[in-house]
Amino acid sequence: QAGERESLYLVNEYAKNYFHSTMLKTELGKAIGLSYFKERGFTDETIDTFQLGYSLDEWSAFTDTAIKKGYKLEFLSKTGLTIVKEDALTAAATKTFDRFKGRVMFPILSMSGRTLGFGGRILTSDKKAAKYLNSPESDVYHKSKVLYGIYNAKQSIAKEDRCYLVEGYTDVIQFYQRGVKNVVSSSGTALTPEQIRLINRLTKNITVLFDGDAAGLRASIRGVDLILEQGMNVRICTFPEGEDPDSFAKNNSLDALQEYLDSQSQDFIAFKASLLAKEAANDPIKKAETIRDMVVSISKIPDTIKREVYIKECSRIMDISEEVLFNTLAQLLNKSS
Ligand code: CTP
Ligand code: MN
Ligand code: MN
Ligand code: MN
Ligand code: MN
Repeated sequence: QAGERESLYLVNEYAKNYFHSTMLKTELGKAIGLSYFKERGFTDETIDTFQLGYSLDEWSAFTDTAIKKGYKLEFLSKTGLTIVKEDALTAAATKTFDRFKGRVMFPILSMSGRTLGFGGRILTSDKKAAKYLNSPESDVYHKSKVLYGIYNAKQSIAKEDRCYLVEGYTDVIQFYQRGVKNVVSSSGTALTPEQIRLINRLTKNITVLFDGDAAGLRASIRGVDLILEQGMNVRICTFPEGEDPDSFAKNNSLDALQEYLDSQSQDFIAFKASLLAKEAANDPIKKAETIRDMVVSISKIPDTIKREVYIKECSRIMDISEEVLFNTLAQLLNKSS
């Protein structure tokens, strides 16, 4: 209910401020958390804009302080900030732990700026622990419905009439700091229709920018049809092997970044054609599969005129008759209605 959700927001808000000031005002926070972000190239202004923070490497430093301030364990537990371990036999043996102990913190804000949850990055290179830990689902945090960065990006998305979609927290932050502010991230989850709908309120144009690795490529491809289904325009821009938007933006000027984005972004037909060209240029079976896959994507587009334009582009690029493509499209549309 509304009262309980409000309590979860308040706990998250408190935690955001606690982690932020722990990082800026304590010796350990400065030595560990702040220096980590400085090393990644983030400025004080950026750290403030994204309200980045640090959670001390102690079992329950945050939880203890929050309880002392009067926040209820019930809400600390429901937001996932505190892990409560109940002894099976005696409630007296209940122990509480900070979920994000020893991590740098990325608060996840809603479109209107409320704190929904957190991502926390580990600082050691411990291979056993997850690199990022995220808040669990709660009444205020539904990972399929949030986009990291949307609060800071929304004005630029509307103004530029385009949204860049990246994979991770640091990709968003590095782009923003470099001056490309119309950027959000699905934060590691496969892109969902709800996330696309959030963008759809601000612009019809999305450019998907995923990491230069196999996982990034697969994720870009999966997102395309979902974006087309909502009547939006999608372009795809990949990064060189081993780079992600964060590293690319860190190592290039704003002009070079903008020039890369403008020159390397392709519409989905050209993108799929270039994948085929790279992987199996002369394999007729692969070529046939690619063409079919393109027509499947085209069949998702609600607007009939746009569908026709893309069929013509597909015909031209893949050197196949429009008639065959229109027939295939008609079959696909019949099947789905
Ligand atoms: N992610 C996650 N849990 C993990 C790994 C990744 O939730 N164990 C999410 C995070 O939101 C992360 C995004 O997926 O930002 C992209 O993952 P990856 O490319 O591996 O991380 P980067 O953002 O590049 O992180 P970094 O540069 O800090 O290594
Ligand atoms: Mn501040
Ligand atoms: Mn990656
Ligand atoms: Mn990455
Ligand atoms: Mn990275």
